[in-house]
Amino acid sequence: PISNIQLSDPNYVTIFDTTLRDGEQAPGASMTIKQKMDIASQLAKLGVDVIEVGFPAASQAEFDLVKLVAQKIGNNIDEEGYVPMICGLARSTKEDIDKAWESLKYANKPMIHMFIATSDIHMKYKLNMNREEVVERARSMVAYARSLGFEHVRFSLEDATRSDKEFVYHIIGEVIKAGATCICVADTVGCNLPNEFAQLIVDIKTNTLGIQNVILAVHCHNDLGLATANTLAGICAGVRQVDVTINGIGERAGNASLEEIVMAIKCRGEEVLGDVYTGINTKHIFTTSNMVEEYSGLKLQPHKAIVGANAFTHESGIHQDGILKNKGTYEFISPEDVGFIRASEHDGIRLGKLSGRHALKIKMLELGYNFEEKQLEDLFWRFKSMAGRKKNITADDLRALVLNETIQPQLLDNLEIHVTY
Ligand code: KIV
Ligand code: ZN
Repeated sequence: PISNIQLSDPNYVTIFDTTLRDGEQAPGASMTIKQKMDIASQLAKLGVDVIEVGFPAASQAEFDLVKLVAQKIGNNIDEEGYVPMICGLARSTKEDIDKAWESLKYANKPMIHMFIATSDIHMKYKLNMNREEVVERARSMVAYARSLGFEHVRFSLEDATRSDKEFVYHIIGEVIKAGATCICVADTVGCNLPNEFAQLIVDIKTNTLGIQNVILAVHCHNDLGLATANTLAGICAGVRQVDVTINGIGERAGNASLEEIVMAIKCRGEEVLGDVYTGINTKHIFTTSNMVEEYSGLKLQPHKAIVGANAFTHESGIHQDGILKNKGTYEFISPEDVGFIRASEHDGIRLGKLSGRHALKIKMLELGYNFEEKQLEDLFWRFKSMAGRKKNITADDLRALVLNETIQPQLLDNLEIHVTY
């Protein structure tokens, strides 16, 4: 949870969640007001530092939602003093900033997230502005946001990774002078590789006037599948605020995923990332992921890291044998840490054509059948033959495997069906 102490702690990484803004920009992901309120409450349970709720100037519905979240969740201070900052997106125009202030001012900690594009291609074709005009607009609009009452003014450089570096240092320096409190470097099209992204952060830190007085943030898209890697590279280079979404949903190929970043920090932060940590209560990750999957309609791939259906499931014999002897052999993250509750002790063992005897024995025990070695050997080969033909082996399939073999002669004699194992 956010507190002034943690914000001034150089090892604390603040989590800026944009599931409700960039996440909802994912094709087909639009959600109702009630669903977004549920997600915002869940994000507060997780302990995210900032909830970016939406883009107040985009529509009356967006405005109303941002205001509602600011009023309700933005004032729900818990016993420890935690309350998330509530944030809204705004282009660098007076109209957008006014709408942002009017909707966000009800929150205990309102934050505006302003942006302007800084790459030549965006400035020329999208904004139709030259560099001087862009700097002047950014500078004056940051000052305007401050004049309305925003104490937290976050300024993003859209398409920063394709922008001229000298121009990047210059515009950042100017918006800091104008009152920005946080600078966010966006890999808008997801084109950077981790080493060059880290270098960009280092260069910004080295060459930009006043950068040490603001929070430095990153916003990474996943077009090359590198959003998480680039975000972590940013942290290694000294960034202390990261933009993430639940399940990594977002525009096109999505954003860096909260669960991946938070668990990478939790599992390896001390050892590899210079002792950094977050305030996230990871036990709520699984429930939040399920909620976002259901509400957004964006189905998770089974092998999605941390929250996918297969993330804690083992099918090959060697792995299953290892897991049955000691979970740590193949489970480096404990499912309990992310709130994944197993239906039964060996729920993570999935039987398939690559499974071994150890797993079959355990699964049979779960069903109440205790086989001796010889019987198990026989059953195992019949199981293998079935698994070669059938992908999803259920408890009923296993029971049938046992019953078929053992009751056949009895059925022929017209005796009572009875399983003897
Ligand atoms: O991807 C992007 O550049 C954005 C900005 C608004 C930060 O979402
Ligand atoms: Zn984005």
